[in-house]
Amino acid sequence: PAPGWALGADVVVVGSGVAGLTVALRCAAAGAKVTVVTKAHLDDGSTRWAQGGIAAALGDGDTPEQHLDDTLVAGAGLCDENAVRTLVSEGPGAVRRLIATGARFDTDPATGEVLLTREGGHHRRRIAHAGGDATGAEVSRALIEAVRAARIELIENALVLDLLDDAEGRTAGVTLHVMGEGRRDGVGAVHAPVVVLATGGMGQVFSATTNPAVSTGDGVALALRAGAEVSDIEFVQFHPTVLWLGPDAEGQQPLVSEAVRGEGAYLVDADGTRFMVGQHELAELAPRDIVAKGITRRMQETGADHMFLDGRHFGAAMWEQRFPTILAACRAHGIDPVTGLIPVAPAAHYASGGVRTDLHGRTTVPGLYACGEVACTGVHGANRLASNSLLEGLVFAERIAEDVMAALAARAGEPAVPLVPPPGGAPLLASEARYEVQRIMTAGAGVLRSAASLTQAAGALERLHTAAVEAYDREGKTAEPCVETWEATNLGLVARVLVAAARRREETRGCHWREDRPERDDRAWRRHLAVRLTPHRT
Ligand code: SIN
Repeated sequence: PAPGWALGADVVVVGSGVAGLTVALRCAAAGAKVTVVTKAHLDDGSTRWAQGGIAAALGDGDTPEQHLDDTLVAGAGLCDENAVRTLVSEGPGAVRRLIATGARFDTDPATGEVLLTREGGHHRRRIAHAGGDATGAEVSRALIEAVRAARIELIENALVLDLLDDAEGRTAGVTLHVMGEGRRDGVGAVHAPVVVLATGGMGQVFSATTNPAVSTGDGVALALRAGAEVSDIEFVQFHPTVLWLGPDAEGQQPLVSEAVRGEGAYLVDADGTRFMVGQHELAELAPRDIVAKGITRRMQETGADHMFLDGRHFGAAMWEQRFPTILAACRAHGIDPVTGLIPVAPAAHYASGGVRTDLHGRTTVPGLYACGEVACTGVHGANRLASNSLLEGLVFAERIAEDVMAALAARAGEPAVPLVPPPGGAPLLASEARYEVQRIMTAGAGVLRSAASLTQAAGALERLHTAAVEAYDREGKTAEPCVETWEATNLGLVARVLVAAARRREETRGCHWREDRPERDDRAWRRHLAVRLTPHRT
């Protein structure tokens, strides 16, 4: 639909997690007119839920080089080494600047030094944390406070629909659907030469995930519709230790941070056997994909639907001080980690791939940037290293802000170029299709995949899509445009693209686990799968 109102800005940031708010703050501080658009409230995204922390070589004896080595190993041969080098070498400075922005990390009361913990795949204590296990909540609090104090326009409850182009094919802003915000209700537009996607992940494409309800792949879907390249989308990471709440648990599930294992808890099966010992030199602290596979295999061998985490030896005081969030979540579900075992199973957690960018966050569409989980900068390869996600958001946000300011300066004084009218209607999926997509993906493209399961998933997703397109093309019928139908449509699109890539990658690598192709095949598959669609098709 045609926008009923329009605003102007230099930069539109879509999303309000660590990536989006850092870009917004840095661009605003450099003098740009910034508008942040977010689908729900400012702190409703994934950042607030991050527990473990932010990885950076801040400790005595640690170096960016060692952080690089651990990141490359976790990434299973598909990291872009230059991108990782950028991440680990600029990481410590970015964390210090976050602290200067107002984030309060846990420190040693005697020395004032930031306390560091360990997580899977890290050979050192390297993870800075806040509030014990509430790092994301503190990062979010500090950034939101800073953004509210800056001259930044904030539009909440606004779903961004599509990218606007100018007649020269450059980005010219976004269309958006604002819900219940008075004078800016309904479909509108923000005109700007720069758009930064920072919309987070797509965990909601599966039935059970650590991601909040808003993580519906909107940024990847928008980028695909705009003709941008998306890469490594088959590499969805399953977090090994998500609180197991029964076989029918759906939606966002409570995370039990890797830091719990980092501080010495171990994984056991129903007989009390530590099954990760002997599977990897780091046992429970192996990279995340290896632990998720270890748990899944043990579940298959024993016919169980979950395993257990044993942290009883921590004692009550440590649970209360170090892991208050996890303790509260367990107790809310009748589980007491001080006296009993914590039931855990893997669940969808993080998109290692996304919208392909260069080292300045530039996508393949001029003027469109991507930052954070929505992006594929090359730092994660086939499997992200624990606690590199907040770090990636911070480091690349600062690089994007620098590039954006240079781009704006280069265009200053240029005559305005007319806009191409936004695309018309689109065949939208009904809101209930969200659950159908989740069922199909969980059955066919979850932690364990095979050619047969993926083929079945591809067929079911295609039928869902074709029915919507045919009803639209033949009768002009479509679901009522609203957040729920757009989310279902975005989930359907990213699911189809994800399954297509997972079918093509005929090997097991990182977090892509093919039962029928159990080996990593460097000769044929040490390469990326990229997808680019014709612009403006759902
Ligand atoms: C965790 O705390 O285990 C999550 C950290 C991450 O996803 O990197």
